[in-house]
Amino acid sequence: MIKVAIMGHGTVGSGVYEVFEMNAEKIARVVGEPVEVKYVLDLRDFSALPYGNKFVTDFSVIENDPEVTVVAEVMGGVGAAYTFTKRCLEAGKSVCTSNKELVATRGEELLQIAEAHGVNYMFEASVGGGIPIIRPMLQCLAANEFDEICGILNGTTNYILTQMIHNDVTFADALKQAQLNGYAEKDPTADIEGHDACRKICILSDLALGDKFDPDEVSCEGITKITLEDVANADKLGCVIKLLGRMVRNEDGTAYAYVAPHLIHKDSPLASVEDVFNAIMVKGNATGDVMFYGKGAGKLATASAVAADMMDCVEHAERRRRIMWGDGSKHLLRPMDTLQSAWYARFKGPREELEKGLPVESLSEPAANVFVVRTHKLATAEMQKRIAKLNECGEVRAAIRIL
Ligand code: HSE
Repeated sequence: MIKVAIMGHGTVGSGVYEVFEMNAEKIARVVGEPVEVKYVLDLRDFSALPYGNKFVTDFSVIENDPEVTVVAEVMGGVGAAYTFTKRCLEAGKSVCTSNKELVATRGEELLQIAEAHGVNYMFEASVGGGIPIIRPMLQCLAANEFDEICGILNGTTNYILTQMIHNDVTFADALKQAQLNGYAEKDPTADIEGHDACRKICILSDLALGDKFDPDEVSCEGITKITLEDVANADKLGCVIKLLGRMVRNEDGTAYAYVAPHLIHKDSPLASVEDVFNAIMVKGNATGDVMFYGKGAGKLATASAVAADMMDCVEHAERRRRIMWGDGSKHLLRPMDTLQSAWYARFKGPREELEKGLPVESLSEPAANVFVVRTHKLATAEMQKRIAKLNECGEVRAAIRIL
């Protein structure tokens, strides 16, 4: 009998327990013997649950139990989650997590500790919830250089945008619904301001390019400024608005990495990704585009990825998986200033100034002196300069990249 532990009994943690219960037979068949969750660590009182006797509040019970070989860290955050992960690895226990904040900020350090102690630190659930993306990048696509990654990486914001696009639901109501469904982070700011997607594109970039992309240095814009007016204008241009995380590799080996809302054409496969679903396009230099699609958030979807990593650790107890990236000293992140994009803009002011100010590709007839414009490609810094200039004679009310 294999013994494992779960640290955290929130949405994902309770889901991990449920997956081990629900699929006990299948899991035993795959790993070769039954797996028992011996402990669940949480400070709250869950004694009324049928498995209430498994709960512990003292981390050292798990740390000091040699029977426990694999631990799920599904607590979230970078405080206790970091300390307990480090101590588990140092105690010779593999750790599997859905904690993208911890992987994105301290992943390289924890991977090194895991290597030093001959155990695994695995994080399939940290990007795309139930979608397999980490393992395919590490294994199936390993022979490729990754030229581009572009994805809808946050379920909460995709749910909100879908509600705005199809049902005219306000931003606030859609957010409440996403929280009730258990999609949102504890503090939804991380979702709506793009930080969650930023952590995820950093993890994918770390894997793709082999050096750390620091979420604090990666440009990140959320969806809080998107209005129903922009959604309607995008529709008239044959587009929908989606929050994308992107990494684009340059010929010199540097890369742009960023999170921002984009207008994407309705023909794009990403345009039809709705509600809590995520999709990730990975462009390998040998494979071309490969697309991954599925539930990017939610209890059982995410829990199944954590549980599968735990099974993998059980199966690879003797020979650890080699996963590693550098500490960021290669400075691969290229500043956004030179990234070229076509833009959608909403401008109130004189038409001639707009036509002078931006490389207009198409321009709508004005409504109440407000123009909707689609531009040719323009570098980010140049666009910012031109917006500042246009704001001297009018008001640029929105500027969103077009993919
Ligand atoms: N809050 C995250 C999301 C959860 O909405 O995508 C999954 O990472």
